[in-house]
This record gives sequence, C-alpha cells and structure tokens, in this order.
Amino acid sequence: MKTIAFFDAKAYDKESFSRFANDEINIRYFENKLNADTVSMAACCDGVCAFVNDTIDKQVIDKLSEYGVGVIAMRCAGYNNVDLKAAAGRVKILRVPAYSPYSVAEHAMGLILTLNRKLHRAYIRTRDHNFSLEGLIGFDLRGKTVGIIGTGKIGRCFADVCAGFGMNILGFDPYENKEFGGKYVSLDKLLAQSDIISLHCPLTKENHHLISDKTIEKMKDGAYIINTSRGQLIDTAALIDGLKSGKIGAAGLDVYEEETALFFEDYSDEIIPDDTLSTIISMPNVIVTSHQAFLTREALDGIAETTLENLSAYFNGEELKNEVTI
Ligand code: NAI
Repeated sequence: MKTIAFFDAKAYDKESFSRFANDEINIRYFENKLNADTVSMAACCDGVCAFVNDTIDKQVIDKLSEYGVGVIAMRCAGYNNVDLKAAAGRVKILRVPAYSPYSVAEHAMGLILTLNRKLHRAYIRTRDHNFSLEGLIGFDLRGKTVGIIGTGKIGRCFADVCAGFGMNILGFDPYENKEFGGKYVSLDKLLAQSDIISLHCPLTKENHHLISDKTIEKMKDGAYIINTSRGQLIDTAALIDGLKSGKIGAAGLDVYEEETALFFEDYSDEIIPDDTLSTIISMPNVIVTSHQAFLTREALDGIAETTLENLSAYFNGEELKNEVTI
C-alpha cells in the first residue's frame, strides 16, 4: 500500500476522498499547507496530494525528490503554484483537468446576481428589520453584454448560464472553442463593449495582471468585473482605483492575488495584516468569497475520484492521462 501526504486537508476533503477510497492508497491528512517549512511531513510518504494555495517551488521539489517522493497529485485544475521546471524529470505532476465546470460557472453568476441586485445588502438590512429599498436598484441582465475571457470548459458553461438570462455574449480566447455559445471578438473590443467581464482563463506569465489600469481604462464606465479564476490575473491596486473612481461598477472576486496566506482559514477573531484586502472587502459594491467556486458536492466527488485514479495510474505504471509538463 502506498502512503500519500495530503496537505491543506479540510473535513470536506476527507469526506469526499473516503467515499472513493481504495486498498492501494493510504492517505495521511495534514491541515498544514505544503511549503518549505512543512514539506518534511511528506518524508516517509510515496506521494503528495496538494491544492491551490500550497507553495510547490524549487525548494519543496528538491526536498521531495530527496525523500524519494515521485508524484504530486494536484487536486485542482490550475497548477500555477507548481514550479514545473524544477519538477521536470524528477517529480511527476498530475492534476484534475475537469470536474463540474458548472460549479465555477454557477458561482460566477451567483456573484453577478448578488452584486447587481444587492442581495448581500438586502440580507443584512432585513435581518435588522430595515425594510427600506433605498440604494438597492439593480439592472436587468437581459440584453446586457457579458465578456468572457477564456472560453474553455468553465467559460463555455458560463456562456450557457448567461444565455439563459438573455444576455449578449462576447468571448476572447487565443484558441476558439466550437462549443462556445457567444461571438469571438478581440480583447479590446470585449473590454470596450461589455457591461460585465468575467475571467475564466488560467494564470500564466503572459496574463499576469491582465486586468490593470491600462485594460480598465478601455472598459465601459461602470463595468462589473468577476474573477473566479486566479487572483493574479487582476492588479488589485488598479481595481481599487477603478472602484474608487466609479469606472468599475462592482467586483465579484472568488480569488485574490495575495490569498495564499489567508484563504481557507478562519481569522474572524483577528485583525488581518492585509490592508489591500481589508479595503476591498469594505466596499459595498465588492463581494469576496474565499476561493469557494468549486465547492459543490459534485465537484468534490469528481476531484476525489480523478485524483485517486491519477495516483493509482502512477503507482501501477500506467499511462498518465492527466500529467502536466512544461
Ligand atoms: P480550460 O483549460 O478548459 O480553459 C481555459 C481557457 O483559457 C482555454 O481555452 C485557454 O485557451 C484560455 N486562455 C488562456 N490564456 C488566455 C488569455 N490570456 N486570454 C484569454 N483566454 C485565455 O480551463 P477551465 O477548466 O475552464 O478553468 C479555467 C480556470 O478556472 C482555471 O485555470 C483555474 O484558474 C480556474 N478555476 C477556479 C476554480 C475556483 O474554485 N475558483 C476552480 C477551477 C478552476
């Protein structure tokens, strides 16, 4: 039996992974995130299972390689937190390329509906017996234009959700997807014409701070920005300036560029040391969720099933369908 060091483990992970348990793999759950300080917990293990806010840099890869750990199974689609160059030829990187794209697409729409119809504010008001409607005016989504940046599995599903609301759908992606139900345009056109812009592309070196003061300048006044992809796609300082000036009408953020230190943990009894996050959270037209777009039962089951299949394939010397290489 092979032993896996499972980092950043939460109760919901244990529940879904136990449902797909097999006799080949024994999982040791650790609450710690994987980084240079915690990597030694994997010393006696055969493999590692990691998530979006683990730090899998050269230092961590060197240590795993030294311990004889030959595989890291990412239980997510993105792998921007893995130094693939350092891993090449030493540690195999596996991932879950697809698991309920609906989970993320539906969360993106949830953020739009909440921001537009001010549901977050209405919820607090009525709990306080404040039944005033002042300041809660939204707009019909029907007939408005949504611009989708990245039209892969999630972006395509999100387009279908938007189509259900009767929206005009624009897309920008260097690789067009035949199943995308919108019209492809250049990035500049998408920025200029969209009432709502939603990011569904992976984080790469090229698109770091894709949303910056320069791209915000090209947007319609009052445009909404929705990010359920990766925090570093947005320059948060530029977003704050855009929100302050009114150029950006609202922002729904499931991810944040400095989320690694905070997201997934409870700091409700503390003053958080991140003034930028505190500023943005304090704005009435911003909603921040803690990287939870994937968090549906269907997605968790899909993640557990594919991660365990990936590990079994590795340990049995089978073809690695979900390997990530440089
Ligand atoms: P995918 O690989 O199916 O699609 C991504 C698309 O983005 C591809 O068509 C690609 O050509 C396109 N793309 C790449 N760079 C681009 C750029 N600069 N501009 C426009 N398009 C670009 O990936 P999928 O499954 O749709 O996931 C998208 C992203 O969603 C992931 O990379 C991940 O960062 C994020 N994600 C977030 C989750 C959450 O819980 N918040 C959960 C799962 C994924």
